[in-house]
Amino acid sequence: MATSPVPSKILLFGATGVIGKFILEQLIEAKPAFEKIGIFTSPGTAEKKADAIKKLKERGVEVVVGDVNSEEDVKKAYEAYNTVISALGRSVILTQIPLLTLASASPTIHTFYPSEYGTDIEYDASSAAEKPHQLKLQVRKHIREHIANLHITYLVTGPYSDLFIGKMGGAAAATGTFDVAGKKAVLLGNGEGEVSLTTMRDVGVLLVAALRTPYAPSSSPRVLKVNSFTTTPAAILAEFERQTGGEKWDVTYTELGELRRLEKEALEKGDPIATVYTLRRIWGEGGTLYKERDNGRVGEPEVETLEEQVRKAVEREVSAFQSGEL
Ligand SMILES: NC(=O)c1ccc[n+]([C@@H]2O[C@H](COP(=O)([O-])OP(=O)(O)OC[C@H]3O[C@@H](n4cnc5c(N)ncnc54)[C@H](OP(=O)(O)O)[C@@H]3O)[C@@H](O)[C@H]2O)c1
Repeated sequence: MATSPVPSKILLFGATGVIGKFILEQLIEAKPAFEKIGIFTSPGTAEKKADAIKKLKERGVEVVVGDVNSEEDVKKAYEAYNTVISALGRSVILTQIPLLTLASASPTIHTFYPSEYGTDIEYDASSAAEKPHQLKLQVRKHIREHIANLHITYLVTGPYSDLFIGKMGGAAAATGTFDVAGKKAVLLGNGEGEVSLTTMRDVGVLLVAALRTPYAPSSSPRVLKVNSFTTTPAAILAEFERQTGGEKWDVTYTELGELRRLEKEALEKGDPIATVYTLRRIWGEGGTLYKERDNGRVGEPEVETLEEQVRKAVEREVSAFQSGEL
C-alpha cells in the first residue's frame, strides 16, 4: 500500500449511540480541526433526536440522513468524505461488510475504522470461540480476505470505565458493581485481578490521536490496544471509600467460578445477559492486559485517571439522588 493518506473528511456512523456521542465530541473538539465532519444517521433517529441533531448542525456537523442498508444512500454519502468511522451497535455489526465493500470501491474513501472499541477479540487462541466476538471476527475475516486498498484500524480499548466503575442494576450487579448511595460493592474474582479500562471520553481522544498517526508501510490493518489506566476492583473500591468520607463499604465477591456457572446457565437459556457474563469473565481472567499498550504509538495523548472516573461516578449518583432518580 502506498504512503499513508491523511484523514481529513470524516463520516461517522452510529454517532448518536452510546460511544458514538463521545467519539463525535472529540472529533468536533479536535485541534487542529478536521476539514469536514459528518454523521450518517437513520430517518428514525433524525426524528427522535431532532434537538440533538439540530445542535450538531449548529456546531458545523453535516448530517446525512439515510438508510445504512441502502447502497445508493451510502455511496452518495461517501462522495464527500475520505474516512469512515463506524460506531455501529452490536446488533448491526455485520452491516459493516457492505459498508466496507462500498468504501473499497469508492474513489474517495481511503481510511476505515470498524466498530470495535472494546475487548480484544483476538487476544489469544481461546478468543475465537467466545460468542460475543463472533460478528466482529467475521468483519475482520472479511477485511483480511477482501479489502486490500483501505487503511483499516481496530481501536481496542477494553471495557469502558464509566460502566465498570459504576452501579449495575438487576442480575448484572452480580458481575461487579459500586453503589455510592448504599456504600456497597460487589467485586469480581478476589478483587485483586488487574483490568485495563478506557473512559468513554478517552475512546474519542485516543481515536482522534490514531487518526493523526500515519500507518507504517504495509501495516494495515493495524490493531491499536489503548487504555486510560489499569487497576483492580479492590483499588477502585479503596478510591470510592476515600472519596465518600473514608468509611468502609459493605463488600461481597463474585468468584470467577460462580461467574462461569452464571454464564453457562444464561447461555443454555438463551438469556441475552450471557454476553455481559462472558465479557466480565474474560476481563476477570486478565483478557484486557496487553504485553504492550499502544498509547505511545499514537502520541501519548493525555488520558483520564481512576481518581477522576470515581469522582464522576460519585457526582453522577449524587445528581441522580438530588433529581429524585434514586
Ligand atoms: N468497551 C465497552 O465496555 C463497550 C460497551 C458498549 C459497547 N461497546 C462497543 O462499542 C461499539 C458501539 O456500541 P454502542 O453500544 O455505542 O452502540 P449503540 O448505542 O447500541 O448503537 C450505536 C448506533 O448504531 C446504529 N444502530 C443501532 N442499531 C441499529 C439498527 N438496527 N439499524 C441501523 N442502525 C442501528 C444507531 O445509529 P443511528 O441512530 O445514528 O442511525 C445507533 O445509535 C460496539 O462495537 C460495541 O461492541 C463497548
